Amino acid sequence: MAVIGIMSALHEELSAVLAMLPDEQRVSVAGRDFWVGHWQGHAVVAVLSRIGKVAAATTATVLLERFAADTVVFTGVAGGLGERVQVGDVVVASGFMQHDMDASPLFPRHEVPLYGRARFVADPAVSVQMVLAAQAVLSRFELHLGSATVANFRLGAPRVHQGLVISGDRFIATSAERQALRLLVPDALAVEMEGAAVAQVCWGYGVPFAALRTVSDRADDAAHTDFQCFIREVASRYSLAILSQWLSQRAAA
Ligand code: ADE
Repeated sequence: MAVIGIMSALHEELSAVLAMLPDEQRVSVAGRDFWVGHWQGHAVVAVLSRIGKVAAATTATVLLERFAADTVVFTGVAGGLGERVQVGDVVVASGFMQHDMDASPLFPRHEVPLYGRARFVADPAVSVQMVLAAQAVLSRFELHLGSATVANFRLGAPRVHQGLVISGDRFIATSAERQALRLLVPDALAVEMEGAAVAQVCWGYGVPFAALRTVSDRADDAAHTDFQCFIREVASRYSLAILSQWLSQRAAA
């Protein structure tokens, strides 16, 4: 049976996913708890990714090696970089890059040494499915979030974007850093701390990978505002609803 690896960046997201698994069993490897079970008839392994590239790459490697995941999906939050990418929107990655990779002059800036590339593409088929699932959920966003949350975070008409997601071992929380990143990687839609690392691991194993990020902030001076509340009230609900919608449309293998 096909095994779907679900990596959640946030405790709240993982808890919401685990509440959907009637039969989950905990298996601890490398100091991480992997939850093996079923969701809507699909065999799944859910795990907290942990934060940062090395931690997430370690988690992904165990997911592939020990749990034989043959598709990996990642959910979490990100800082919006694209001009039109607003708090409350969802970004589905089409590709990933490490913005802090720089082995120049030995290799071109951003190229991952010995991989011959700076960018890793997301699986196109799974990503399109994610976009469709996200669009379906966001078209009813008030239903999923409740009107108090919508008002609290002043969410307008949230949109789904698809494009480049960049990762680095730094939380971007100043407007100066935001501006520098926009100049460095003009086509980046969102910034986070894990996606490119997990994409690199999955690429090495030839396993399809897709990632979905709810935009929690604009990676600027206000980036820390109400972060926990946003995760609880918005991001976790979106992730759960979108994953659930995706699984319901994916034929059980
Ligand atoms: N995840 C969510 N917001 C982020 C930011 N501003 N920088 C890095 N990772 C993030």
